[in-house]
Amino acid sequence: MRIPTDVLAVLSDRTKIDGHRMALVGPRLTPALHQRVNEVLEAAGGRWPKTEGAHLFPVHAAEALAPVLATGEVVTLGEKRTLAQYFPTPDPVVGRLIALTDLELGMTVLEPSAGSGAIATAAAARGAIVDCIERDPGYATVLSDTHVARRVQVADFLTIPAEPRFDRVLMNPPFTRGTDMAHVTHALRFLKPNGLLVSVMSWTVTEQTGSTTAFRKLVEQRGGLVEALPARAFSQSGTTVDTVLVTIPATRPADAQPTIWPVRDLSAQDVEELGNPADIAAEIVADLRKAVAAFEEVAAALTKPCAHHRARRYRGQLTMPLLENRQEQCRL
Ligand SMILES: C[S@@+](CC[C@H](N)C(=O)[O-])C[C@H]1O[C@@H](n2cnc3c(N)ncnc32)[C@H](O)[C@@H]1O
Repeated sequence: MRIPTDVLAVLSDRTKIDGHRMALVGPRLTPALHQRVNEVLEAAGGRWPKTEGAHLFPVHAAEALAPVLATGEVVTLGEKRTLAQYFPTPDPVVGRLIALTDLELGMTVLEPSAGSGAIATAAAARGAIVDCIERDPGYATVLSDTHVARRVQVADFLTIPAEPRFDRVLMNPPFTRGTDMAHVTHALRFLKPNGLLVSVMSWTVTEQTGSTTAFRKLVEQRGGLVEALPARAFSQSGTTVDTVLVTIPATRPADAQPTIWPVRDLSAQDVEELGNPADIAAEIVADLRKAVAAFEEVAAALTKPCAHHRARRYRGQLTMPLLENRQEQCRL
């Protein structure tokens, strides 16, 4: 939201900042203006405990307010909550993620992109001691207010130096442009040697491309497991992006099995459009037989002396290079 000029004027001229505290000074604001100023301060991560008579921020108040004053814009908490409904991990996915984590009472858990705490809350409910990191001060404040976490740190997780002190890392990081791989790779460094990481990730990581090669190798080296989530698992959060759950141990277990990367299931509609696989295979076999017959015909014709003059044209085209190339392309 664009901040109205009267609210901006209060924020720039009538505040007194002392570390994480920010008090309003000067003549009392009308209740309506006070409410609108409060809305902006809350969006920047401030809370106003009645006993304090000031707003308290999870970071230095000047740091929280700087982007607001510089841009004259803010995403209000109301807007963020609406927006957050598009991203939080839905309960069934949280349930499956927790089921994979082998969580025990008193284990230490890191949630490094915690949002408003869908995963952190479920882990704490199972008796884990949860530390959270969240870049957005507004989400961090919402999460702090739930008191599910031992600590909520407002920071860019990717800039935090790794310390291997957690039993578990549970996460659903941002996906854009492969950042989920960067987040998970960094998060693995926070695990104790016998620790385990479970993350929601984009389906993209299952695809063999230049940008996934190193990550896929890391998962395979650690004996990681990859499980496809149902199609549209995040539709209630407003996105149809396909996702997987990736489980990676800190240390490769002695009995690790090769990682099996899931393949996309064709939807019923796709199957209908493409036809029955057995019929498709029979069609291909018939085509191949026709092709073989055509080759036989050319071969037979070339044995006749009257066709020898054409041999130069066909040499190197109809024979082994062509077949080898086709075989290579059609490996079953
Ligand atoms: C997909 S949401 C998931 C939220 C929460 N983990 C959940 O499952 O409901 C990703 C969260 O990561 C946060 N985030 C994005 N980049 C971050 C970073 N570099 N460091 C910490 N948090 C980040 C976003 O603000 C957002 O809250």
